[in-house]
Amino acid sequence: MNRPTRQAPLLRRHQAVVTILQRPRSARTSMNAVEIEQALSDLALQPFDAAEFPYAFLAAFGNKDVTLKRLRAGNNNPSDLPGGVLQRNNIHILVCQPGTTGAGLVALRGSSATVKGKAKFILATDGQTLEAEDVAAGETIACHYPSFPDHFGFFLPLAGISTVQEIKDNPVGGLSTFCLDRLSVELLRENPDWATAERRADMNHFMARLIFCFFAEDTDIFNGEALFTRTLEQMSDRDAGNTHLVMSEIFRAMNVKIADRAKANLRPWADQFPYVNGGLFSGSAAVPRFNRMARTYLLHAGTLNWKQINPDIFGSMIQAVADDEERGELGMHYTSVPNILKVLNPLFLDDLRAQLAAAGDNKAKLLNLRKRMARIRVFDPACGSGNFLVIAYKQMREIEAEINRRRGESHRGSEIPLTNFRGIELRDFPAEIARLALIIAEFQCDVLYRGQKDALAEFLPLSAENWIVCGNALRLDWLAICPPTGTGVKVTADDLFETPLDQAEIDFENEGGETYICGNPPYLGSKWQSEEQKNELRSIFDGRAKNWKSLDYVAGWFMKAADYSKVTNATAAFVSTNSICQGAQVPILWPLIFGAGSQIVFAHTSFKWANLASHNAGVTVVIVGTSSAEGVTRRLYSMADDKGVVERRDIPNINAYLVPAPNVEVLPRAKPRDGMVPMQFGNHPYYGAALIFSQDEARSMVDADPGLTDWLRPLYGSKEFIDAAPRTCLWITDAEASAAASHAEIKRRLGNVAAARRAATQDASAQKLAETPWRFREQQMAQHHVLIVPRVSSENRPFLPVGLLPAHCVVQEKAFALFDAPLWNMALIASRLHWVWIGAVCVRLEMRFSYSNTLGWNTFPVPPLTEQNKADLTRCAENILLAREAHFPATIADLYDPDAMPDNLRQAHADNDEVLERIYIGRRFKNDTERLEKLFELYTRMTATAARPAPAKKAARKTARRAPA
Ligand SMILES: C[S@@+](CC[C@H](N)C(=O)[O-])C[C@H]1O[C@@H](n2cnc3c(N)ncnc32)[C@H](O)[C@@H]1O
Repeated sequence: MNRPTRQAPLLRRHQAVVTILQRPRSARTSMNAVEIEQALSDLALQPFDAAEFPYAFLAAFGNKDVTLKRLRAGNNNPSDLPGGVLQRNNIHILVCQPGTTGAGLVALRGSSATVKGKAKFILATDGQTLEAEDVAAGETIACHYPSFPDHFGFFLPLAGISTVQEIKDNPVGGLSTFCLDRLSVELLRENPDWATAERRADMNHFMARLIFCFFAEDTDIFNGEALFTRTLEQMSDRDAGNTHLVMSEIFRAMNVKIADRAKANLRPWADQFPYVNGGLFSGSAAVPRFNRMARTYLLHAGTLNWKQINPDIFGSMIQAVADDEERGELGMHYTSVPNILKVLNPLFLDDLRAQLAAAGDNKAKLLNLRKRMARIRVFDPACGSGNFLVIAYKQMREIEAEINRRRGESHRGSEIPLTNFRGIELRDFPAEIARLALIIAEFQCDVLYRGQKDALAEFLPLSAENWIVCGNALRLDWLAICPPTGTGVKVTADDLFETPLDQAEIDFENEGGETYICGNPPYLGSKWQSEEQKNELRSIFDGRAKNWKSLDYVAGWFMKAADYSKVTNATAAFVSTNSICQGAQVPILWPLIFGAGSQIVFAHTSFKWANLASHNAGVTVVIVGTSSAEGVTRRLYSMADDKGVVERRDIPNINAYLVPAPNVEVLPRAKPRDGMVPMQFGNHPYYGAALIFSQDEARSMVDADPGLTDWLRPLYGSKEFIDAAPRTCLWITDAEASAAASHAEIKRRLGNVAAARRAATQDASAQKLAETPWRFREQQMAQHHVLIVPRVSSENRPFLPVGLLPAHCVVQEKAFALFDAPLWNMALIASRLHWVWIGAVCVRLEMRFSYSNTLGWNTFPVPPLTEQNKADLTRCAENILLAREAHFPATIADLYDPDAMPDNLRQAHADNDEVLERIYIGRRFKNDTERLEKLFELYTRMTATAARPAPAKKAARKTARRAPA
């Protein structure tokens, strides 16, 4: 039903709901969003009480009486503003004189107590208007006082509830999801059998029916205001004993055609409901039993304005309700609308809009465009609850409406069949919701572009066609589901819930149309894939590539899209983990895609996944569009700044690293190029844990036996170097072995090493090394100095933290070492150019760079350097070292904190980049894309002129990485 106004809020109409939710606050430890919205609505309805407001507001978020009592008494109120109430780490509230709300907010912002008390929010009100600010996010709201509960999503963090932006922006969507979430929890508590795997589908179907009913009663699809909620409220007992029976009868009615009503013997109150079916109400009308709370949440959900529900976000939110894992992480996994448009716009919507602009008012051209759109298929083979399909549909309807407007046919029915928006989804509930979301989207578009009357006239009964397949996209034949030709939808059924999971075939009513594949398929690194998922990839890649097991799960979608495009000319674009366009996966996947005849026609370079902030770490995505069509201009999109401004370049080619350069794969090289210094793994202790100890241990050992000093050295791996906290190791040459062993502590430790190595009976190297327990596996030391390069470094550091250590330091295998390398090598490694190269060609571990000597250093394209160049670069490296030294004892971690990097160090790096980049192109590069472009150009040239690189010795690399500590 339509939510009328704040003055007559939803809950007054359901006094029962109010009574139940208004339990004494002191009894509550936490409140959910439904309860908070409820409490805020109540507060807004009360006459404004200036003295009481701050406490009543805090009470609405579940603050206990005792907490409020202390605040009132002033003990816990450090506010420095007259009349202000400050709850530490939470909110600073000020009730102001009439007409001064804005000034009040300014005062709160400027208050030192706000800062000291770490207030997350500030809020000022005079009882007529209300203004508030989320201090960290810098977001503000300003509204009339009675409507502030509309912004409850904005304040949810006060109750420790994080929400995605879309939920904040769409409180009705968020609230309905919370309601359904609570409802399903209560129902499952009351009906444990419905929580079993066998009945999960029944539960899902039940929820889908509910959603439809709420939507239908608020959009006049059902006759009369709030028919569904009102009937349930009136006909079901307050103790909820018969709620399931009443609802079951309503559901039964919606499965009986009007012509058959007389013999169906429906109860009169159920007979008011229309015939809906379309598969939605066929089959069992079973409804779980309700308890009082479940009935309350049901009625509360019914009071929301479902008309405002946005099917693009709503589907995904509803999905969270059904999914135990996703509950509590509301909306985290769904793709936001701006990100969906990053896929759909370049895929085909931009082109449609350009054609619309070009057509102007030319009726024939407009007609052609309309006909073209009617035959466009959009196919999402991992569609979840259908948000890509819904957005595509809505955007196309908008274009079609404009065509109709220009042709003077505003009320014309749409020619875009909903069934052209196809999906595959593994889980049955999202698949069902996807279909429902599309139905709702179609209805909303009809209302918007043709008017309520026309929309209603054609809406019921729902069509029985099923165009969202529930099944495994990597097992199903996409050509059978979305064939390039075909004239009808084959799969229709009375009861679509009963449709077998793996539907094999669906035909399109779409002879000769275009197909666009899109979506955000799941990403899973090889380590995380289940046996089943590995087998799915095997069925796609086995026999095509040797190392397919290293591929991410999402690679399966790219390959299937390329195979599909061979036959159909379809263009595909997926959001994906950026790992498939970096490092080791590139030479495995992309030659296969290119070999299948597809090219990258557009791409969006890496950007951070921007849903729930607390979960953002580790997710960086790309968008890659592939097509087998010839002669397409390649478009490369990238973030021009960190405010989300996107830059587009039209270029002749985009390679698999998403760089405007020829298609090359960077393969590991065993040796560096001529003139470059070898970079080696540090020394491996090889079961030699007893050779290594902390500095404290070292001190105690030396206190006990000062003679040990001769054999102790500082030891550095990545962590020790970055944190400036070396450990200590025993470093004993063969010649010194017997002298060293005359010390009891050393003897004991060497005994432990020998034993540990001997115990590794399957390891021949360990057996051999057991005979020389004083040695690390390698014994490499510098004569003069050593350059150390951490193997793993945070991507957030703007430069790779290479460093210089004195000759007596031991570099352990957790870092790379360049022994006695001239200092200009440090200038290369510390450069932005090297940073972008490593980011592109080496493997990433989540957000961290995982450095590789064979893949990153030995392949790094460096133009021939003159002696003068080397001298200049040496000076730059020295300046970087001096700049760091000026901040002694700051660690590398401190110095390269992106938010706190000292200016002199930043400048030293900038100078280094200036000198190096002038060597490459005679000026600074404009950005990282240009850097990569140049590096790939050089790399292509170098690999074309050089003989094919000697493949790096895999076995040796493996040992270096996997050898035991
Ligand atoms: C990242 S979600 C994207 C869904 C939707 N577009 C969204 O943004 O919410 C990936 C979807 O792929 C589905 N999925 C996972 N493996 C699948 C498979 N093998 N076949 C089909 N769908 C799969 C998941 O259930 C999930 O709904």
